[in-house]
Amino acid sequence: MSTDDAEKTFTGFFGNLQQAHARIEERLQELEGAADAVTEPARAPKALETMASVLEFFSTFGAQHTEDEEKTLFPRLQPLPDFKLMLAAFDFQHRMVETEQRALAARVQGFTPAGAAGLREQAHRFVEVHRAHILAEERGLFPLAEKHLPRRVLVAMTLELRVLNA
Ligand SMILES: [Fe+2]
Ligand SMILES: [Fe+2]
Repeated sequence: MSTDDAEKTFTGFFGNLQQAHARIEERLQELEGAADAVTEPARAPKALETMASVLEFFSTFGAQHTEDEEKTLFPRLQPLPDFKLMLAAFDFQHRMVETEQRALAARVQGFTPAGAAGLREQAHRFVEVHRAHILAEERGLFPLAEKHLPRRVLVAMTLELRVLNA
């Protein structure tokens, strides 16, 4: 697709990222439901199945979303002094979400009924950390970035998103 075509169909780089956040939020809600069910023996098998499916989503779609942000948006903000500290914080949040995700996957994989309460706590922690990160992007980073980046850069980043997700 040429830059002209991208311009015509441009719906907003940050709109695309927010749509991804909405999909992520749906799966976080699913995970919360499973977390509360996993401590009940009768509901545990189904809850573990749901958690495995949610983890699969985060290791594919979720990982792609993080890569989208780190390959398109972050490099554009890196040279701008206003974003120096903020980017370090957001990069740290990405790594923190990944750490919590790995801890959750390990607990699901090594599940025993005695570990159900710990798994529930871990699932809730992952949801909390991920949700806080999304909120910080949507309320803090994205609006500020949108103000600082020229439209041609937003169009270029939209094109790059398409290539990354093709
Ligand atoms: Fe992010
Ligand atoms: Fe994001």
